[in-house]
Amino acid sequence: MAPNIFITGSSGYVGGSTTKALLAAHPEYEITALVRDQAQEKIIKGAWPNVKTVIGTLDDEVTLADEASKADVVLNLASSDHLNAPKTIISGMARGKKGRFIHISGTGVLNDMSKGPGNPTPKVYDDVKDVREITSLSMTALHRDVDAAVIAAGKEYDIPTAIVCPPMIHGVGSGPGKKRSIQIPYLIEAIDGRGKAFTVEEGNNIWDHIHIQDLASAFVRLTEEATKPNGGAATWGPDGYYFTEAGEFAWKDVVSELAQLLHTSGKISSSDVDKLSVDEAVKFHPWAPVLWGGNCRSRASRLRELGWNPATLKITPSLPEMVKFVLA
Ligand SMILES: NC(=O)c1ccc[n+]([C@@H]2O[C@H](COP(=O)([O-])OP(=O)(O)OC[C@H]3O[C@@H](n4cnc5c(N)ncnc54)[C@H](OP(=O)(O)O)[C@@H]3O)[C@@H](O)[C@H]2O)c1
Repeated sequence: MAPNIFITGSSGYVGGSTTKALLAAHPEYEITALVRDQAQEKIIKGAWPNVKTVIGTLDDEVTLADEASKADVVLNLASSDHLNAPKTIISGMARGKKGRFIHISGTGVLNDMSKGPGNPTPKVYDDVKDVREITSLSMTALHRDVDAAVIAAGKEYDIPTAIVCPPMIHGVGSGPGKKRSIQIPYLIEAIDGRGKAFTVEEGNNIWDHIHIQDLASAFVRLTEEATKPNGGAATWGPDGYYFTEAGEFAWKDVVSELAQLLHTSGKISSSDVDKLSVDEAVKFHPWAPVLWGGNCRSRASRLRELGWNPATLKITPSLPEMVKFVLA
C-alpha cells in the first residue's frame, strides 16, 4: 500500500517546495496537507488536486493528533518554534500507525557571536561527530527548546524522530504559496530601503547555505528511508539530527554581490558597502545580529552518508532571481 504522508507547512516556502518534490519523486504517496483556512486549501488543491487537505493550525490538538495517527510519515515543516505541536503529533502517531516523524529546525541554534558581531568563529558542528553536543546546546539557543521537545516526545511515545536543521536557504521556492526565504530577502529589502548596502560590522562572520531544491531533496531522501522497514539506513531518535549544508560563506561576500546587483539595476546609487554597528543594523531589522552578524557553521555528514549530495554549491546564481522576486 502507498505510504500516507501528513505534512504541515505545504503553503509555505520549505513545505511547498518539499511537497512538490515529494509528488514528483513519488506520485504514489498519499499526501495530506494541514492548511490554515479555505484560502490556503484553494491554493494547495489548485496546484495539487490529489493532495488531501485538512483545515487546522498547529494549535488544533485533536486535528493534528488524528491526522498523525493515520500517517506512515509526518513532516512538520510549518514551524521550528511551535513548542507543543511536535508532542501533539507524536502522541497521535503513537495511538495509530506508529509512523516516523521528521521535523524542521534551523542552524540558528548554533549562533556564535563570541568574537563579536561580524567576526568569524572557528567552531564547526558536524552532525555525526558532534551530535551529542548539538543536542545538548543551551536551552536558550534558538529552536533548541523545540529540538529537545521532539527528542523527548519521541522517547516518551516510542516514535522514531528525525530533526532536519537547514542553514541559510536560498533560491525562490517552487510551491504554490509562499516562495521567499528569510535572511537574504530581508537583506535585499533593507539595502533597497536604506539606499546603500551594509554589513554588520566587518561582515566576516560565516554561515552555511543550501538551495531550496537541495533542501527539498533532503526531505524526500529521509521520507524514502522512513517508508522502508525499520526506517531504512537513516538514523532515528536522539542521534537522528541532520544538517543540510552545501558549503559556507562570509556575509560580506553576499552583501557585495547584492550591492552590485541592486546598483546595476538602478535600485541604489552606489555599490559601496557600509559597516554598521549592531545598534545601526537593528534599525533595518530587529533580528539583524542573528540574521546577518553571527556564525552558524554546520557539516551535513549524516545525509551525505545516506547518499544525499546538494547539486547547487554556490549562492551567487540564486541572487538575481531573489532580488527580482523580492523587489517585484
Ligand atoms: N527559510 C529559511 O531560511 C529557514 C531556515 C531554517 C529554518 N527555517 C524555519 O523553518 C520553518 C518554515 O520556514 P519557511 O521559510 O518555509 O516559512 P513559511 O514560508 O512562513 O512557511 C510556513 C508555512 O506554515 C504555515 N504555518 C506556520 N505556522 C502555522 C501554524 N501555527 N498553524 C498552521 N500553519 C502554520 C504558514 O502559514 P501562514 O502563512 O498562514 O502563517 C506557512 O504556510 C520556520 O519556522 C523557519 O524559521 C527557515
